[in-house]
Amino acid sequence: MLRIAVVGATGAVGRECLTLLDRGTVPVDQVLPVASARSLGRDLGAELGLSLPLAPLTTVEELDPEGLSVAVFCAGAELSRREARRLAEAGVLVVDNTSAFRMLPEIPLVVPQVNPATLARRPAAGIVANPNCSTIQLVRALHPLHQLAELESLVVATYQAASGGGLPGLAELAEESGRLLPDPRAQGEPGGRFGQPLAFNLVPEVGLADESGFTHEERKLAREPRKILGLPQLRVSATAVRAPVFHCHSEAVHLRLRRPVTVEAVERALAATPGLRVYRPSDRPAYPMPRTVFATDEDRALVHVGRIRVEPADPHAVALWIVADNLWVGAALNALQIVELGSKYGWLR
Ligand SMILES: NC(=O)c1ccc[n+]([C@@H]2O[C@H](COP(=O)([O-])OP(=O)(O)OC[C@H]3O[C@@H](n4cnc5c(N)ncnc54)[C@H](OP(=O)(O)O)[C@@H]3O)[C@@H](O)[C@H]2O)c1
Repeated sequence: MLRIAVVGATGAVGRECLTLLDRGTVPVDQVLPVASARSLGRDLGAELGLSLPLAPLTTVEELDPEGLSVAVFCAGAELSRREARRLAEAGVLVVDNTSAFRMLPEIPLVVPQVNPATLARRPAAGIVANPNCSTIQLVRALHPLHQLAELESLVVATYQAASGGGLPGLAELAEESGRLLPDPRAQGEPGGRFGQPLAFNLVPEVGLADESGFTHEERKLAREPRKILGLPQLRVSATAVRAPVFHCHSEAVHLRLRRPVTVEAVERALAATPGLRVYRPSDRPAYPMPRTVFATDEDRALVHVGRIRVEPADPHAVALWIVADNLWVGAALNALQIVELGSKYGWLR
């Protein structure tokens, strides 16, 4: 009997967890939705049109670990730091979507398509960290290329959707777009979910900058792939940009491989990797875009790679354009695939 709690069930990631569970991504006997006291009394089954066996919504303080197999946390790092260990110590597997535990050496940071062996045994701390949304799609495309010709370094620029700022981020972009449409020169006020007005704009600051000038998001994009790929020396330089699209993060990636490659070899390696969709110039569309990727559930569950180029004068230098749904591939789906892996290895209670 698999009972799974979704902490942050009313949020952008939590709702997608419920939707995916409703579709049978992981077979469950009962789902316990958890949110803040503000949401008590809400009927998420009716709101989202779900038919899965859903318990009444509760708060995390009221959540009883007895008989609970898994708790997926998607309610912010502060709440995870406060509550995750209590549940883990009571035997619940915590899959944490926040940044709270990702870089702790004792906590596995897992993308099931890339480093599944890290979960061959139940993690001693009872917590598995889900990587940052931009990291997941990046490492899923990098992994087969590392196996092909050994990754040396990369430069990545992200174009991140408003849904990365949760439901408030989506609402803010919709409201601001409507307001600015009649007057595209209106400036708007700094603030809100993205620090700056996002509609008809690009904001090259995702998270706060540290003393080096790099932002938190850029630091995550450098640190997390090293841990997941097991390449502590990998050189990564990132620029993270918030773009005025509702769904799906895009990434322009320039990487150096230790061995020379051809475009055909890169395409073959990516196309042979489950869960990746490769675009060639003759395809229609010839490259992935946020709107086309978000259009179907099948595409929302994949990592899309196009604009595959190898520098003519330097066969070690590869350029890619990667798009994926940050709420599915970058969060809810990865978290549930971690649960699936625990079940496959036979150590979920
Ligand atoms: N959005 C993404 O693309 C993405 C990707 C990967 C990881 N993440 C991470 O996932 C987490 C959630 O992000 P989101 O985008 O889903 O945010 P969101 O839409 O703002 O949702 C936040 C959720 O947290 C709940 N919450 C807040 N305070 C709580 C409390 N004290 N107790 C229980 N629940 C509480 C909210 O419940 P109420 O409705 O009751 O307030 C809501 O369900 C964040 O840590 C984020 O960094 C997000």
